[in-house]
Amino acid sequence: MRRALLLPGLLALAAGPGLAGDLVSPPSPEYREECGSCHVAYPPRLLDGAAWARVMAGLADHFGTDASLASATRDRLAAYLAARAAPSRGDASAPPRPDTSRITTSAWFLRKHRDGHDGLHAALWRTPAVGNPANCGACHRAAAEGRYSEHEIQLPVSTGASSR
Ligand code: HEC
Ligand code: HEC
Repeated sequence: MRRALLLPGLLALAAGPGLAGDLVSPPSPEYREECGSCHVAYPPRLLDGAAWARVMAGLADHFGTDASLASATRDRLAAYLAARAAPSRGDASAPPRPDTSRITTSAWFLRKHRDGHDGLHAALWRTPAVGNPANCGACHRAAAEGRYSEHEIQLPVSTGASSR
């Protein structure tokens, strides 16, 4: 796996084992095209089947925007996501399942991205380069390809806040 370059103004993070390896899976061309244009095509494994079903049933009012698809396309993508969703509770290898249609409000996400963890701090989330926690690619530089390895994280620098 490519190691992140330590560029001026960017922080490269220490390596270590984690969940990221389980998520390495490039999005299908159709998933990337239809669900990766406004934001990265999120890893199917970060939501359970029920949450993906809610997302796919509500595309006309998708987090305040219209992301409607032709019904055949929507049904294909719904099946794609359902087949790759987080497994049922009780599977110890599975990431914890969020209870809503958001990844970024799940207990798992908040724990992995808590303040003080690996250089993350509140001001960083508000920098123009990030703007929104759902903007995974601001830090996970290979998010569009479905890769979240620690080796490929580069935090943007926030002005006016201390980095480590
Ligand atoms: C027209 C633009 C657009 C398209 C196309 C789109 N989305 Fe979104 N999506 C958004 C916006 C805007 C948000 C909300 C971002 C925010 O403010 O947090 C969002 C948020 C999400 C979230 C929640 C992110 C979080 O905060 O954890 C999921 C999951 C999601 N989209 C899945 C999908 C899927 C699946 C598709 C394809 C069927 C799709 N999106 C297509 C615009 C889009
Ligand atoms: C502001 C920067 C930033 C943003 C935005 C961000 N992350 Fe992260 N992410 C991190 C850092 C830092 C870590 C901790 C890396 C570590 O554990 O070494 C991390 C860890 C992870 C991990 C690995 C957890 C583990 O234990 O292996 C995954 C998966 C992940 N993030 C997914 C996402 C997804 C999906 C999004 C968007 C919905 C996102 N991240 C948005 C910075 C970010």
